Amino acid sequence: MKALKNIGVLTSGGDSPGMNAAIRAVVRACKFNNVDCIGIYRGYQGLIEGDCIALDARSVKNVINRGGTFLKSARSKDFFSEEGRKKAFNKLQEHHIDALVAIGGDGTFAGASVFYEEHDFPIIGVPGTIDNDIRGTDFTIGYDTALNTVIEAIDKIRDTANSHNRLFLVEVMGRNAGDIALNAGIGAGAEEILIPEQDMGVNRLVESLKRSRKSGKTSSIVVVAEGDKIGKNIFELAEYIEGNFENYEVRVTVLGHIQRGGAPSCYDRVLASRLGIGAVDMLLAGEKNVMIGIQHKKLVSVPFAEAIAGTNEIDLDLLRVADITSI
Ligand code: F6P
Repeated sequence: MKALKNIGVLTSGGDSPGMNAAIRAVVRACKFNNVDCIGIYRGYQGLIEGDCIALDARSVKNVINRGGTFLKSARSKDFFSEEGRKKAFNKLQEHHIDALVAIGGDGTFAGASVFYEEHDFPIIGVPGTIDNDIRGTDFTIGYDTALNTVIEAIDKIRDTANSHNRLFLVEVMGRNAGDIALNAGIGAGAEEILIPEQDMGVNRLVESLKRSRKSGKTSSIVVVAEGDKIGKNIFELAEYIEGNFENYEVRVTVLGHIQRGGAPSCYDRVLASRLGIGAVDMLLAGEKNVMIGIQHKKLVSVPFAEAIAGTNEIDLDLLRVADITSI
């Protein structure tokens, strides 16, 4: 096996809090192992364009606490084409980069996997997405911070919901996964949580909200995952619910991209640091074409093919917790 002299690092897809901490860990693990490190701006797009910078241990000072990614991120359309990937490979050769750490979500790993197949180029993926939807890892970088952002926002919404005896529908991110909705919903004490993994249907939702009213609740919070399949968008859903109650005002809050920003939580900083170092260790040990993940607190390597084959399974027992605690 050829000794690695130069490792590239990039962040790709939707940014997530803790990506900077992961880059920092990669850079410092390279330094620890006497390997050069090159940062690639704007994910695969920057790679295709050769937009790179040499990074040393001091280049990543004061970033562990910063949200976003200082290397910036992009969803590259060009990398979908064989031609684009060939250009990326040529740039890697030009910059003498021997291996790559790609921090991102399933789209990032799908790209990495094809790239590996075509060019036999060593890549380790590091799961960075607020969605927590990657198979093979219990947690992704940024998810914990996003949960905390969501419950902080819902706590505030609850104050006004309570003052006005209103029902609030709060839409959270997660793409096709309900992890953010389910966990933040429990954490924020939501009355109902709508997730794509379990379609409760509008009628059951209305019945349940009626029961809540009868039991003496004057205000309610319903957390709705953006990928929920109840069949109506959140504004239509609000209208439908309002039409089924007398004198119950319904309001909608779409939390949107505030969930992707902000300083990473301690959990995300530590996770990012472990995964970043682990990725470099894996490359130096000759691993490639895998994602590094965390399972039961231990670092594991998961083939890209497995990581992108589906999403993380949701813990349906949590739905029971949500049902009981919202009585
Ligand atoms: O994957 C992260 C995520 O924030 C999803 O939760 C959301 O569906 C999507 O990205 C939004 O993407 P964009 O920032 O491109 O609008």
